[in-house]
Amino acid sequence: MTDRIDFAALPDDFAWGVATSAYQIEGAVAEGGRGPSIWDTFSHAPGRTHNGDTGDRACDHYHRWREDIGLMRQLGVGAYRFSIAWPRIVPDGDGKVNAEGLAFYDRLVDGLLEAGITPSATLYHWDLPQALQDRGGWTSRETAEHLAAYASAVAGKLGDRVRHWATLNEPLCSAWIGHLEGRMAPGLRDLTAAVRASYHLLLGHGLATAAIRAGATDPEVGIVNNLSTVEPATGSPADAAAAVRMDGHTNRWWLDPVHGRGFPADMREVYGVELPERPGDAETIAQPLDWLGLNYYFPAVVAAEPDGPPPFARQVRRPGVPRTGMDWEIDAGGIEALLLRLTREYAARKIYVTENGSAYPDVVTADGTVEDPERTDYLHRHIAACARATRRGAPLAGYFAWSLMDNFEWAYGYDKRFGLFHVDYATQARTLKDSGRHYAELIGSRPRRGTPPAA
Ligand code: IFM
Repeated sequence: MTDRIDFAALPDDFAWGVATSAYQIEGAVAEGGRGPSIWDTFSHAPGRTHNGDTGDRACDHYHRWREDIGLMRQLGVGAYRFSIAWPRIVPDGDGKVNAEGLAFYDRLVDGLLEAGITPSATLYHWDLPQALQDRGGWTSRETAEHLAAYASAVAGKLGDRVRHWATLNEPLCSAWIGHLEGRMAPGLRDLTAAVRASYHLLLGHGLATAAIRAGATDPEVGIVNNLSTVEPATGSPADAAAAVRMDGHTNRWWLDPVHGRGFPADMREVYGVELPERPGDAETIAQPLDWLGLNYYFPAVVAAEPDGPPPFARQVRRPGVPRTGMDWEIDAGGIEALLLRLTREYAARKIYVTENGSAYPDVVTADGTVEDPERTDYLHRHIAACARATRRGAPLAGYFAWSLMDNFEWAYGYDKRFGLFHVDYATQARTLKDSGRHYAELIGSRPRRGTPPAA
């Protein structure tokens, strides 16, 4: 580990956290009055996920949440980003609120606060109630309105204790991967549906932001986007233009409307799909946010692909570049560049790295340890890059490692392990990995102002 972490650049109240999401860890899909979500449907459909894996049991967090708070304590984190399962709260989509679902998160929040861990709740991490999908899902404007109603219900119950709220997690994945590429729920390959979904997701974000502000005490509301740095694979004009399109597709389409710039004109042309715009929507989508969430995993190196789907660009696999077990290129400089871009181009007032991490095929050794030097290195280098960006002016307020523990990695099932704790899915045993130990040491050794640095 060569990169020194400039801890002094980080604010004193910097949030060191871990992140998870409901469908990836909870299990108990038919308990507590939960209704089915699009991910139950998708994962149970033949051929959709690796090995036919589903989130039916996942990490059984629904029953083991106390133990899992214990894991967070072991790491010494001060914050936990989790998502609320919409189908636990409103099982029929637009039907009545399920008190048992709310009670689960109520207990979780109290447990976190008792442990001295700040809860950070995300409303939508991809588990749309199936009942809403049956009525058109995100292609329908109604779904945006339902998101706001659901936001009111949870803000009313938890908003006296939860201050940190995210509306959406990675709407790019819901819209582009779920509706255009078909690799995630609901599994469509339909450009018109995808563009309409992207619009209604951001409209839902705006409506939900207002609902949280109306229902919670002094909340801080943000949105979480997965962004990538984008560079052309070659110096050709065609690849340069492809990089501009990929930047529009991945980054600007999600950032510009939220910052009052509207949907990028060049991308409207690329998609060629009319947006379902109504007067007042642009303002709803663009209301000022308290923070921006950045999920960063890899850079995008792209070449033109005229015959592909929009944005007519494809990721290029550069030889000899280190990659994670997801086959994603590793570039810690990317997180620094994106933090600075959000600061300079979008005048971000506060940023959280809401996810960052890497998957590797970990095993528990005979002596009960998990040696994962690559993940340790990835984590360390990316935190060092975050500190560099902060030194250069990025208003970074916290870092959430993805993920607390191995979990259901969507279409990849349980094959990909992102956790700081290893999970044995047969026994549900959690084992601290070396990377988790390293993260705990970083958090523990961080010098505070007025305190001499640890030796
Ligand atoms: O597991 C996912 C998470 O649900 C959203 N962000 C990326 C992670 C790793 O792929």
